[in-house]
Amino acid sequence: DNTAIGSTIGTTLDRFIKNKQSEFPFATGELSQLLRDIALAGKIINLEISKSGLLDIAGAYGTTNIQGEAQQKLDVIANVRFIRALKNGGEVCAIVSEEDDEIVEINVDSNYVVAMDPLDGSSNIDVNVSIGTIFSIYRRISPVGTHVTKEDVLQKGDQQVAAGYILYGSSTMLVYTTGHGVNGFTHEPSLGEFVLSHSDIKSPQDGNIYSINEGSYYSFEPGVRKYIEYCKEQRYSARYIGSLVSDFHRNMFKGGIYIYPRTDQALNGKLRLVYECNALAFIAEQSGGMATDGERRIMEIDPLELHQRTQLFIGSPTMVQKAQSFL
Ligand code: AHG
Ligand code: MN
Ligand code: MN
Ligand code: MN
Repeated sequence: DNTAIGSTIGTTLDRFIKNKQSEFPFATGELSQLLRDIALAGKIINLEISKSGLLDIAGAYGTTNIQGEAQQKLDVIANVRFIRALKNGGEVCAIVSEEDDEIVEINVDSNYVVAMDPLDGSSNIDVNVSIGTIFSIYRRISPVGTHVTKEDVLQKGDQQVAAGYILYGSSTMLVYTTGHGVNGFTHEPSLGEFVLSHSDIKSPQDGNIYSINEGSYYSFEPGVRKYIEYCKEQRYSARYIGSLVSDFHRNMFKGGIYIYPRTDQALNGKLRLVYECNALAFIAEQSGGMATDGERRIMEIDPLELHQRTQLFIGSPTMVQKAQSFL
């Protein structure tokens, strides 16, 4: 019996998607193809990030995005790579990106809309700290063959068909959900494949890690300050990487809460609803966590603007509820 010989490669993302095909009511293979296109773009970005110190792609690009942030070269490179991969894949009618002021119309004959943060944690690129990509996938509302409309891209998080992130960390992982639980795939460089490494991820109900930028302590509202005091009294651990994807990913596995509240500099919070918060809120809820703006579920918020910001309280339900009790 030679089946025991050699290490099993495990389930690749492609195999996993094929096996799960039956879960999609309108399984036409388009969503599967779209997920593969995103994984491909992630592999390309991963390659470039791993060499960014060697190539002249570190540092600022010299332009400012609609957020008022100085775009990093890798912000722009990642944005271009994703748009190109999604265009070539053929499944996307429009893209909303942190790095594009307006909707990017791709192919009026396609069914899916992608909202993405091509590179999350840009301040960490040049200092070799983990960064990520965040994406949400929606079905378009307007008829195929017509120009994309605002209502196609300003859908509530509850309308997401799929969502996920790529974490370019000590290992590169793709974590996503289609509403049937959360699965994590680790990139195997010699094969160039994402292989299932964390199936059906379940997040702890409670935790003792809190992630918030305490440098803004004096501009937080009283309730947030009181919760921070509570965390210190409980002897919780403070962990803040400055990359939302990394902080979220750690808290999902270990238990914890990430908070980005409103400050005097960020009157509605800093994080963007459409391409950061909705995707992570979907993943959080699908793994047993919780995500609110301090009052409402993130995925119930009706987006009015592409780049709309929101407060974010996300992670272990017991911790999010406790934090909200101070607000
Ligand atoms: P981005 O790099 O995509 O603009 O997002 C950065 C976000 C998030 O990743 C991180 O947690 C947060 O900004 C850090 O903000 P502060 O430096 O204000 O704490
Ligand atoms: Mn940014
Ligand atoms: Mn971001
Ligand atoms: Mn970004």
